Amino acid sequence: MPLEPARLTFGADGTPVSQVYGDVYHSVAGGHAQARHVFLAGNGLPGRWRGRARFVILETGFGLGLNFLATWLAWQSDPQRCQTLHFISLEKHPFHAADLAQAQASWPEFAPLAEALRRHWPPLEVGEHRLEFEGGQVVLTVYFGDATETLPRLATAVDAFYLDGFSPAKNPELWSPALCQSLARLAVSGATLATWSVAGTVRQSLRSAQFDVTRRPGFSGKRQMLIGRYGPADSIFQFRRTAIDR
Ligand SMILES: C[S@@+](CC[C@H](N)C(=O)[O-])C[C@H]1O[C@@H](n2cnc3c(N)ncnc32)[C@H](O)[C@@H]1O
Repeated sequence: MPLEPARLTFGADGTPVSQVYGDVYHSVAGGHAQARHVFLAGNGLPGRWRGRARFVILETGFGLGLNFLATWLAWQSDPQRCQTLHFISLEKHPFHAADLAQAQASWPEFAPLAEALRRHWPPLEVGEHRLEFEGGQVVLTVYFGDATETLPRLATAVDAFYLDGFSPAKNPELWSPALCQSLARLAVSGATLATWSVAGTVRQSLRSAQFDVTRRPGFSGKRQMLIGRYGPADSIFQFRRTAIDR
């Protein structure tokens, strides 16, 4: 099935919006600040990657690459950063590089990183695309296609999840019980998650997949956000991870 690329459009206040999903790509109160508050701090980053040989993040919905760029910048600015940061992201409707350039111009702090990202941006074809930066210390693997089909096929050990689909009311497939089970299958013991959504259906799906979830103060106008930790004490991936880190 061929990909349907995203079309870049903006709301009246200048926030990027999807006409297909009828939702915004990031908080109207600021994309970079939201990424730091919800996704980085919500997963205990940068602290949790310190002293690690390798740290793996998985995101649902690459969108404009804002969370990736915020994470890469935080990694670059951290003298105690992990040796290798692997950022995996799943995207059904990727943007063309020219649209990324237009949207990313709103964050001049990312300029050199965003430019490098666009230089490496793959053709919009279904499947896995591996991009390496910082001499291979920052790896972005982006999977173009439907996350509900990609996730069950992945075999990797994930330390932190960024759950960033459009709102569960408008994009329920990215928050379903089955999708949360797919995330749990990849989680190392103690893996964390963060999202701005506190919808009851999302909390229920995550709990049924053995994520212990808690509400925290949200970003800007939002009263709450959600963080979580994967529960079971040992999983096969925990053993693999130990082997990889050694
Ligand atoms: C809120 S935006 C993500 C913003 C992004 N994390 C960023 O930092 O710029 C949600 C994204 O989820 C993608 N999406 C929606 N349904 C999807 C699915 N079933 N599989 C993969 N991606 C999906 C949308 O195309 C959109 O890019």
